[in-house]
This record gives sequence, structure tokens and C-alpha cells, in this order.
Amino acid sequence: MRYINKKFTIEKISIENIAKKFGTPFYCYSYYQLKKNIINFKSKFKSFSPLICFAIKSNTNVNLIKEIKKFGLGADVVSMGELMIALKAGINPKKIVFSGVGKTSKEISFAIDKNILLINAESKSEIQEIHRISKLKNKKIQIGIRLNPNTDAKTLKQISTGKEENKFGVNEKTFLELINYCKISKNLQLKCLSVHIGSQILDNKPYKKMLKIIDKIIDKVDHKFEFIDLGGGMGISYNQKDKKLNYNEYCKEIKKFLKKHKSKIIFEPGRSIIGNTGVLVSKIIYIKKNKRKSFVILDAAMNDFMRPALYGASHRTLPSERKKNKSRKSYEFVGPICESTDKFISLKNFQELKEKDLIAICDVGAYGMSLSSNYNMRPKLPELLIKGSNIKVIRKRQKLKDLL
Ligand code: LLP
Repeated sequence: MRYINKKFTIEKISIENIAKKFGTPFYCYSYYQLKKNIINFKSKFKSFSPLICFAIKSNTNVNLIKEIKKFGLGADVVSMGELMIALKAGINPKKIVFSGVGKTSKEISFAIDKNILLINAESKSEIQEIHRISKLKNKKIQIGIRLNPNTDAKTLKQISTGKEENKFGVNEKTFLELINYCKISKNLQLKCLSVHIGSQILDNKPYKKMLKIIDKIIDKVDHKFEFIDLGGGMGISYNQKDKKLNYNEYCKEIKKFLKKHKSKIIFEPGRSIIGNTGVLVSKIIYIKKNKRKSFVILDAAMNDFMRPALYGASHRTLPSERKKNKSRKSYEFVGPICESTDKFISLKNFQELKEKDLIAICDVGAYGMSLSSNYNMRPKLPELLIKGSNIKVIRKRQKLKDLL
């Protein structure tokens, strides 16, 4: 994605031309960027060839998952719906792991029937339930136990998951008890220790600490884990000033760990695979000035893209056409929803805009469309996949009549 002849362009098509054909607002993704991300991710860890399970929650578009599958990735799912979409995309069940603190009996039963690789359990009650259902079905089930390593991921508090105060996983004491519980069960095969300490992690230290804790625990127990699932969480640069996660360091730490413990590593990346592949394109409906501000009122809103309203996240926001000699202004980019939190970003020194201009909100591929809703009776946006100069509609714009 770059400016070609001053026009914001995805692969070989300007967003202006896409908008002419499909109307606004819309999500669009670059296939090239997706491919590049997957190849990069794989190459960073190729020395121990992990199983990479794409975190479906970050983007649930079946066509994108199909593309991801072609590179051999599996899936990390957290609900029956996500498991169904992963299977529909053709992902091999033996590459699917199921995480989540509240799997229902129905979800567990479905996962067992589909013979997925692992159900990563997060409490004693859940393990008992998996045990009960597997006995009924007279099946042996491969499970993991998610450890809460009480490690601060040093990211936003809303997306931190590895501290004692968070609902995720079990503490060391329970973990050790549960290993013994699994040992006496004929139906449960404890194959995996899993962790996931949070999302949008840019600092290596939390990962290093997490590995140390896992190492210590494994040393304490007489159990061989075939898999160590390290979760996802690798952050991306939303803004130029964001630091970059040092993958080499992380890889080095894991290799050190693997010298001692011979297990297969599983990763569950979402954002690092799909985050920077997507752009939300929106048109300015009105520009409204008061004494203090100029509001740019877009046709996209917080229901279409929640991250700014939900986490105070800021995403690069760019004009569809760069105009050099325009005067510079301060703008607050907002949506039409009846809440003051429906605001994308405030920017100073932005090129002067006019009504009907197009705006690109960048890096929305992860937790963009998947977090969107119909709030204010607004139909869901279409999704387009760009490959060179080819545009494929991978989700149609929802029709108002479907909401009525
Ligand atoms: N595995 C588990 C068990 C998870 O809970 C998550 C994300 C992932 C993997 C993938 O993490 P990633 O590689 O994408 O960081 N809506 C928030 C992010 C929530 C993440 C929830 N769990 C956001 O927009 O920042």
C-alpha cells in the first residue's frame, strides 16, 4: 500500500477506483501483504518449524482463511462458530487448537467429534467436563492445560491475559494438580502446556519471563509435553514511533528452551499475520466546524471499526489523494453514531479536506471487521481482496433488508 501518482493505492488499484465500483465504506485487503507476512513469520522461526495456528478471532473471513490455509497454517479457535469457519475454509482438524475460558458442553462435544488437535482447557471444571464427555463418547482426547504465568505483557490492560488478576488459565498450583488428574484418566491425554499472555506485545522481556516460568514448571513435573503452545500476541507497528518486536531474540530464547525440553512449538498469531493487510476506506459526509474544532464526519463509524473507541487505539489515517500545496488543518475524524466515543482520531497539520473526499484508515486487518457490529442498525461492510489489479469481493455488503 503506497501512494502512486499521489493516489493511495493497494497493489495496483487506487482506493478511489475501488470506491467508484463498490461504494463506501469498505474493508479491503492486500493479498501480497498477507503472503509476505506469512512467509516472514515462518522464516523467523524456521529453525524449529512450529505449528502456526492463525487466531481466527482476528479475522473471520472464510476467503481470507482459505488463503492462509494454502500456506499450511492451522487455526486457533475460541468458539463453535470459529471452529466451524476454520473447517469450512478447509483447515485440517489436526492443525486446530481450541482455546477459551468458557467452552460449553456443546462446543466441547463438537470439537471432540471433529477430532481436532487439542482442546486447551482453562480450569478444573472444564477438564472434568471434557473427561465426562469423552467417557460418554468412549474416546481418547488430546488436551492442553493453559497456564497463567502471572506475567505482565506490558501492553494495554484490556488485552493483557497473563496476570493472576486475569480470568485466563490456571495458576501453577492448580496446573500441577491437574496434571495428576489427567494421569489417572483413561480418556484424557495431556499433550500440551499452553500460554498466551496478551496481545500487541512489542517488548521481548515478557516473553522471556514467560519461557522461564514454563521451564521451571516443566522441571518440577514428571510429564512429557508433546506440544508447548506459546499463544500469539506479537505486536505490529501501528505508528512510526511504535517499537518493533525483536523476533530474533524471541527465537533465540525459544531455541534455548528447546535444547532442554524437546517439544513441538505451537504459535497462535492473529494480528502479526493479518493486521497490516487491511484498510478501511470511508467517505467524508460532512465537515462541521465549531469554535474549537473541525469535525470530519465519515460514513464509517465505531460499529464498523471499534479499536479506537474500545482501546483508545490510534490508526494511521490518510487522504486518498495527496495534495501538496493545500493548507494544513487540524481535524477530528468521527463517525455518525450517537456517542461521543465514536471518534477515530484527532490529527494536526493534515492537508485541507473537503466533503466527499476519501479517507483510508490503515492496519485494520486484525480485530477490524471481526469486532464490528450492527449498532445503530448499520449494515456490515463489504470486504474486498486485492491481488495485483484484481478485486475479489470476499464478503458482500450486508443489506438493510436483512436487518429489518
Ligand atoms: N491466542 C489466544 C488464546 C488469544 O486470546 C489471542 C488473542 C490470540 C491467540 C491472538 O493474539 P494476537 O496474535 O492477535 O495478538 N481485540 C483486541 C485484541 C484481543 C486479542 C484477544 N486474544 C485488539 O483489537 O487489540
